Amino acid sequence: MRRQLETVLREAMRAGSLAAGARLPSSRDLARQLGVSRGVVVDAYGALGAQGFLRLRERAAPTVASRPDSPAGQHADEQPPIAPPPRFDFAATTPDVSLLDRRAWIRALERSLRDAPDAALDYGDPRGDLGLRRCLVDYLGRVRGVVATPSQVVVVQGFSQAIDLAFRVLAAAGARRVAFEDPSHDEQWVAARRAGLEPVPVPVDGDGIRIEPLAALAPDAVVVTPAHQFPTGAVLESSRRRALLAWAARSDALVIEDDYDSEFRYDRAPVGTLQGLDPSHVLYVGTVSKTLAPALRLGWSVVPAKLLDRFVEAKRYADSGSPALEQLALAHLIDSGAYERAVQRARIAYRRRRDALLAALEESLPDCEVEGIAAGLHVLLRLPAGVGAPEIAAAAEARRLHVRQVADFSLTEQTASQSALVLGYGRLPEPAIAPAVRELAAAVADLS
Ligand SMILES: Cc1ncc(COP(=O)(O)O)c(C=O)c1O
Repeated sequence: MRRQLETVLREAMRAGSLAAGARLPSSRDLARQLGVSRGVVVDAYGALGAQGFLRLRERAAPTVASRPDSPAGQHADEQPPIAPPPRFDFAATTPDVSLLDRRAWIRALERSLRDAPDAALDYGDPRGDLGLRRCLVDYLGRVRGVVATPSQVVVVQGFSQAIDLAFRVLAAAGARRVAFEDPSHDEQWVAARRAGLEPVPVPVDGDGIRIEPLAALAPDAVVVTPAHQFPTGAVLESSRRRALLAWAARSDALVIEDDYDSEFRYDRAPVGTLQGLDPSHVLYVGTVSKTLAPALRLGWSVVPAKLLDRFVEAKRYADSGSPALEQLALAHLIDSGAYERAVQRARIAYRRRRDALLAALEESLPDCEVEGIAAGLHVLLRLPAGVGAPEIAAAAEARRLHVRQVADFSLTEQTASQSALVLGYGRLPEPAIAPAVRELAAAVADLS
């Protein structure tokens, strides 16, 4: 269906019946019109964007790109207008990159380059620098209860690369389907589809992913966010943790543990990793994307023995190993304690923002319920009955607020029908939070 849709749209653009600058419906609307899942449209749009046929912008409907070989492109010298940046950005997937201590990073990089032996600048072990892998084993063992030897650690370019490698390895071994929490991060389903795997949804409630549907779905792997479910914020409850691992052991399935923001927890005790409970069935992945900056493309995976050789081989053929100097710099930061100090500083800053957000919501939107507040960089805002999230998101957009709804992360219509917004505070400095929430409340008022 994705390919069919992609072909139809491409032909219309080639023939000029969809002219440069024309605005297409949002993926959500088109999916509804065609009666297909939103993922089909997202994938088709994504492919056409990558091929240069569509201009894709976050939170805006795609427009047909102007290309020299398109009939419209030959005449259209006007670029489609670039949407002005949002006044307030509630993005939930990005941290405040301005918190990165650039001086500390420069010092660590400089030191890496100065002190690195020549061998460190050559092609190396695709798993990454041994020094970094050793210090990750210590750090993750101490802070997250991860059980590993350095030989099992593979330094990756973020969680995105880890699942890409894992999915390719699984698909090559004959895997067919991978289960995802519903709702969950939408780009991860695309990664599965690109590897030829079928994403299957598993419902999430206040205790995290439900385990009993797994037996009937029989996926080869399941991707979970147990410390802080994305985007609901639920913590995977302890009997479910045990049940999940028991299911994985029984069915010899892989659990992929996305530990994307566990460093930021505010008023609850740390939750250990699934990996620490069953290293042979859990592929554990962490990242600096929230703690330092996504652009560094640095993360780590701890790979179960049965997958290790194939995973390392996939990493070798993907990029011959992650960039070496950044790995050495990260090892310096972790070894010297600077990494944990940076996490601690960021935690204090985000906690203040979280508190400011809760206070502002209480004041401006007292009828909404707020969930998932104990950790991470976002909360879930449940709208009162009768208030539709798509309408609120559109009204917010008109006021130049960037807000995503749970429906954007939903694999099924049932979850998509939940009326809830995902409010991130990584991109909102503390003083901007109250005005941003007042503006959101005004968007809600626009509709009443
Ligand atoms: C749920 C979730 N997992 C993982 C990541 C991190 O991905 P990466 O490490 O590839 O930057 C993010 C970042 O937005 C996320 O929201």
